[in-house]
Amino acid sequence: MNVNWYPGHMTKARRMMQENMVLIDLVMEVLDARIPMSSRNPDIDELAKNKSRIVLLNKSDLADPKKNQAWAKYFESLGAHVLEINAKSGAGVKNIRGLVEKACREKIERDRKRGIVNRPIRAMVVGIPNVGKSTFINAFAGKACTKTGNKPGVTKGKQWINVGKNLELLDTPGILWPKFEDRNVGLRLAFIGSVNDEILQLQELCWELISLIRSLYPGYLAKRFQISEEGEGHEVLEKIAESRKCYSKGNSPDIEKAAGILLDEFRNGKIGRMTLEDCQK
Ligand code: G4P
Repeated sequence: MNVNWYPGHMTKARRMMQENMVLIDLVMEVLDARIPMSSRNPDIDELAKNKSRIVLLNKSDLADPKKNQAWAKYFESLGAHVLEINAKSGAGVKNIRGLVEKACREKIERDRKRGIVNRPIRAMVVGIPNVGKSTFINAFAGKACTKTGNKPGVTKGKQWINVGKNLELLDTPGILWPKFEDRNVGLRLAFIGSVNDEILQLQELCWELISLIRSLYPGYLAKRFQISEEGEGHEVLEKIAESRKCYSKGNSPDIEKAAGILLDEFRNGKIGRMTLEDCQK
């Protein structure tokens, strides 16, 4: 799920988002719990100002449970309602209804004072590519109703899905751009697999990942691969190759294969549940 963002693309996504914002009461922002900051769109606060806000820390199954809590508190301190979810298994998704009511309480109350009762809350799911928006919509709305595809912003013919009583969800998520001009953001998006591997130097990416994992979660690599995790990045990759018996011709350790294994196992949470960013307050 990659979108090649360029300025015209971003302008279009922003314009569509603004058009859709007029129609909705609530923005559900999906983030990747492993990189809550890097998976945020830099302009979302501006785009969604004056709307009720829910932040969904998705893929929480792959992230560090303690840091999930810290991040939830952080976003709450910014005025959002927050939930940790696993859109893939559905864990946490059933708690969203209650949160929607909480987040929209003021609006419901305002409507009631004006004599409007039971007007459905209209919500839109937004986020950068690959955070799990479609998976979430399917889990939440209970049917395979989202169209896949990579149209930034939202599709033209708008359709609303009824999600139980008094809640309607725009059927297509708003796809926004990441802060890709920041090198660290780009790296973290690459670690979790949201940037096409083909355009990256896999080994160099792995050196960066090894160094980050060692500093944030010392011992995890040693445990997973049964190696000593000291040394330069390429040495660690060599040890991973040997430990997994990956050899290329001439019996030398197959570093490229080890890099693939490292990334794959990291992305699938096999090395451990990790969050690569701490919230600063
Ligand atoms: P998007 O609409 O935001 O672009 O994301 P999408 O739903 O397509 O999800 C991107 C990938 O993330 C999918 O994996 C999806 O299964 C996975 N995913 C979504 N939510 C969660 C979650 O909470 N936990 C975990 N562990 N994974 C999640 P994929 O490899 O592209 O597809 P598939 O092999 O799972 O079918």
